[in-house]
Amino acid sequence: MSAVSATRPIVVVGTGGFGREVAGLVRDINFATPQSWELLGMIDDGAPDTSLLTALDLRYLGSRDTARNHVPADVHYIVAIGDGTIRRRLDAELSEWGWRPATLVHPSALIGSDVHLGVGSVVGAGSILTTNIRFGVGAQINIACTIGHDVTAGEYVTLSPAVSLSGGVSAGNGSTVYTRAAVNPQVSIGAGATVGAGAVVTRDVPAGITVVGVPARPI
Ligand SMILES: CC(C)(COP(=O)(O)OP(=O)(O)OC[C@H]1O[C@@H](n2cnc3c(N)ncnc32)[C@H](O)[C@@H]1OP(=O)(O)O)[C@@H](O)C(=O)NCCC(=O)NCCS
Repeated sequence: MSAVSATRPIVVVGTGGFGREVAGLVRDINFATPQSWELLGMIDDGAPDTSLLTALDLRYLGSRDTARNHVPADVHYIVAIGDGTIRRRLDAELSEWGWRPATLVHPSALIGSDVHLGVGSVVGAGSILTTNIRFGVGAQINIACTIGHDVTAGEYVTLSPAVSLSGGVSAGNGSTVYTRAAVNPQVSIGAGATVGAGAVVTRDVPAGITVVGVPARPI
């Protein structure tokens, strides 16, 4: 007897560029595995450019408070916002409402053995996660990232496109690594630290510090 899987309703929180990309990711999941998700639409407390949503055939559901009246009480959600501090806050509020965080992995991502992603995480197209990897809740692993063996990352870690974390790297809670930065093996990125685009990180980065350049230095 084959298992029956129900299509689960989902909303994307955040209508910025990444939110619209994540909506595409949901559709790509459905293309690979039909009827995985019913994409109800997009939520944003600001004033989004709805023409961009219309061009993608995406429905704007309004602010969180407005949308709450129009979605199932146990809807799934993904917070598609680059700032990990905001993701943490929204996660707390939405799960309080009974909404359920989704974990979304693009079908083209390669996920190896013993790889654990916390709930509410996103893995973008073409990313590769090899073996024995841990990410806490709310991770954002953008497109074309490479994550080596034994990487451990805390909660609400943000990796922009084409970031490379070598074997044994650790990334603290709320840390951010911007586009195409590379972190050398065994290096530790402190909680809340930021690595600038294109940096090569050769030494541990203390908590809360921003580093840029090759080799990366604090600014
Ligand atoms: C690291 C970063 C966040 C720092 O931003 P910031 O604190 O506003 O820093 P500033 O722009 O004021 O720059 C401060 C100095 O660092 C330099 N700098 C900034 N980012 C740099 C980078 N990625 N590489 C090398 N130098 C950099 C600036 O040239 C400036 O140098 P100066 O003082 O000699 O003029 C930002 O520059 C960065 O790398 N952003 C990438 C964003 C990104 O990839 N987003 C993708 C989202 S999907």
